[in-house]
Amino acid sequence: MTERPDTNSANQMWGGRFASGPDAIMQAINASIGFDQRLYAQDIAGSRAHAAMLAATGILTNKDAEAIGEGLLTVLSEIETGKFPFRVELEDIHLNIESRLTEIVGEAGKRLHTARSRNDQVAVDFRLWVRDQCEAAITGLEALMQAFLAQAEAGADWVMPGFTHLQTAQPVTWGHHMLAYVEMFARDRGRFQDARRRMNECPLGAAALAGTSFPIDRHMTARALGFDRPTANSLDSVSDRDFALEFLAASSITAMHLSRFAEELVIWSSAQFRFVRLSDRWTTGSSIMPQKKNPDAAELLRAKLGRILGATVALFTIMKGLALTYSKDMQEDKEQVFDAADTLMLGLAAMTGMVGDMTANRDALKAAAASGFSTATDLADWLVRELGLPFREAHHATGTLVAMAEGKGVDLPDLSLGDMQCVHPGIRQDVFAVLGVENSVNSRTSYGGTAPDQVRAQVARWRSVLG
Ligand code: ARG
Repeated sequence: MTERPDTNSANQMWGGRFASGPDAIMQAINASIGFDQRLYAQDIAGSRAHAAMLAATGILTNKDAEAIGEGLLTVLSEIETGKFPFRVELEDIHLNIESRLTEIVGEAGKRLHTARSRNDQVAVDFRLWVRDQCEAAITGLEALMQAFLAQAEAGADWVMPGFTHLQTAQPVTWGHHMLAYVEMFARDRGRFQDARRRMNECPLGAAALAGTSFPIDRHMTARALGFDRPTANSLDSVSDRDFALEFLAASSITAMHLSRFAEELVIWSSAQFRFVRLSDRWTTGSSIMPQKKNPDAAELLRAKLGRILGATVALFTIMKGLALTYSKDMQEDKEQVFDAADTLMLGLAAMTGMVGDMTANRDALKAAAASGFSTATDLADWLVRELGLPFREAHHATGTLVAMAEGKGVDLPDLSLGDMQCVHPGIRQDVFAVLGVENSVNSRTSYGGTAPDQVRAQVARWRSVLG
């Protein structure tokens, strides 16, 4: 075996006790700059807040702090204009920025890392990033809820089949079905709001793990970065990734909801159902079958949960069993969260576009609502209400009538009064009024029920909640 040559001399940021640089493969496995450069804005904001605090507490001179503050803005503009020389041998975004800052401002740059460690630095950067993503998810969910609300409002009284087991169950309204998703996405929004509130404590100043002997002001940096307060335990501050896990968990549930509606769109847009038409903007053609209009966006949305839940499981697995405090394992958190967040934001935008553009086929919805003996429950309820039958007996009599209709190849309203009276002599002509689908949905006025008036009331409630 030949010794692998060193890639360079000892690391300029921490190499005091090292005679040589790392092996090339060590560098490849160790470096995170390839992905954590996405934290540049947060890293610079954190460093600027830290420098200002070091000056306010007399730990740094105002002159040094000003040079650092200005230099960091130069670094920011270099990164944003694509001029920043990212260097893999400087491992991560923190060391890349600090090293470049020192090139720009000299000696003062080397003082920035006083009373701080990369452990609290990465913790604060990542929290700031995930906090922004919570806000983006909340905004994205609100747009999606608005798209569902517009559909619900337009079709508050359009009748469609409601399903259980994907078998026709009872007629419902289109608006009611759309509002079911508003409820789901509203809970998702609440989870991101909760997570954001809980994560809004600032770990900066925990330093490596034990706090610092410098007279820092953690409340000042927390305030400057928009946190509610500093974290209260330095060990926990650098070893906690709950905020990322909560973001991933909320993202997973949201993606599961997206996946459920995506599946409905795939079914509904098929030639067999024809419940909805998806616009050309959200479908693709087949290269061989000219008639095809495939619901690719919906299919992809049905699948995206796989990635997001995968990231969630990955981060749980990374964090599981880690002794306090920071371990390098935790560097593996970022790619998972970045990918999950990108996937979620894209998914929310795609679903919002699809829902906004889709057209319900009212005739097909209504025809499907009327088939499959969907008003059998209404008939049973009529027997209870009008004839005083116990529900179980009414259920049985209705079942007999369904079997009779099925045998004749007709639907319930097509049976004659004579047919009906064979099963129960008390049945009267006015039973036919409850067998219509419109009557069925109009009658379901219980709070949260499918009646158009209930739907309109819920649309109004959500509109006032969302503003
Ligand atoms: N790149 C590291 C990460 O993402 C930064 C923290 C490094 N800390 C350390 N002690 N090596 O976790």
